[in-house]
Amino acid sequence: GIDISKLRDQTGLITLDLGYKNTGATLSNITYLDGDLGELFYRGYPIEQIAEKSNFSEVMYLLLHGELPNATQFTQFENNIKNYNFVAEEMKKILDAFPRSAHPMGVLSTLTSALTAFNPRAVNVKSKEDLDHAAEMLIAKFAHLCAWTYRKTNGFPLNHGDNSLNYVENFYKMTFRKPYEEFEIDPVVVAALDKLLILHADHEQNCSTSTVRMVGSAHTGLFASISAGVSALWGPLHGGANQAVIEMLEMIEKDGGDVAKYVQKAKDKEDSFRLMGFGHRVYKNFDPRAKIIKKAADDILNKLGVHDKALDIAMQLERVALEDDYFVERKLYPNVDFYSGIIYRALGIPTEMFTVMFALGRLPGWISQWKEMRLHGDPIGRPRQVYQGAPKRDYVPMENR
Ligand code: ACO
Repeated sequence: GIDISKLRDQTGLITLDLGYKNTGATLSNITYLDGDLGELFYRGYPIEQIAEKSNFSEVMYLLLHGELPNATQFTQFENNIKNYNFVAEEMKKILDAFPRSAHPMGVLSTLTSALTAFNPRAVNVKSKEDLDHAAEMLIAKFAHLCAWTYRKTNGFPLNHGDNSLNYVENFYKMTFRKPYEEFEIDPVVVAALDKLLILHADHEQNCSTSTVRMVGSAHTGLFASISAGVSALWGPLHGGANQAVIEMLEMIEKDGGDVAKYVQKAKDKEDSFRLMGFGHRVYKNFDPRAKIIKKAADDILNKLGVHDKALDIAMQLERVALEDDYFVERKLYPNVDFYSGIIYRALGIPTEMFTVMFALGRLPGWISQWKEMRLHGDPIGRPRQVYQGAPKRDYVPMENR
């Protein structure tokens, strides 16, 4: 019971919008999504065209600069990133301090923040050129940090970058090259990674992006702002859902594969279980990225000759849920994370790395949004509240409580 008339007297009118379900926090030129139609555009280009025809480096440029690059601009951009294709040796000591069991997202967030100390020039951004320079530096170094978190978990020696490769190939080799194996770049794997990274590259004012903008609005440096975004992405209601989906599919499989039972469980309000990878704050229709990923999952598993029972269960689950009134009425459809984990698994990427893969994909979106916020001169983010606590009262000494 909030008495609105009293609130008006006390504080002026405040819009109370828990979870910011209907509050616009900024003007933006980067990504447009229509939740009712299930459409998504990066800088005006439909996601379907971008996912089919572009590559991740080009999409990074598009998001950061607003236009597709010509050949010269593209080469320059790639070369600028290659200039920073290393991480300070001292960063390894920070990594070493973590137990091997540490979750890669926690490690990634810490290392990203620590980059600030080793690259102080990137913190003091005054011009668009400074911003672009910091962005290119972070794009290069973040791929290392993602690779290192994986190698730490597995006890592999750390690799540095190989500038004869493009961004995705370089990440792939740095991350997955085993010390005892000849390593060959598998074009099927690289094409799949490219597509997944593109599909995760930006999604307007989601939880992690809003976090990045909020932290950056205090004129905190880029690396520390992105570190906060990594932490926000970690949660199972956001990027952590891709790990949670596979864990759920494995659980259903172990339990005999009865998908209808789990659909019932997800509907039960007394039960905290939800269908992971289902539902979205903005999409009230099929997530267009999920459509692309579902098809890609099928193609990639075929190309790699992998049969994964999880894909069968996912497809059954989707079918049963989409025929159920509960899901239909609430417009709950599979989201981007429902099928992505199945591809990551087919590529041999371990479950605890899934959200790190998401972070690598989302990085250009976070940076572009941070850049836009700074260039637009957005004010510091500072929401209001509706106070519901104790009225004014006097302090009571401990002996009298
Ligand atoms: N399973 C069962 N019921 C669900 C699910 C689900 N996955 N998602 C939503 N619902 C129900 C809610 O219980 C609620 O029902 P009610 O109206 O009877 O109370 C209704 O649908 C609306 O759900 P909200 O939680 O209010 O929707 P909100 O916009 O706050 O949450 C979210 C969106 C967090 C994505 C939610 O759908 C969810 O938890 N999904 C599972 C986790 C997930 O897949 N997250 C990834 C999101 S995409 C991304 O971050 C990349």
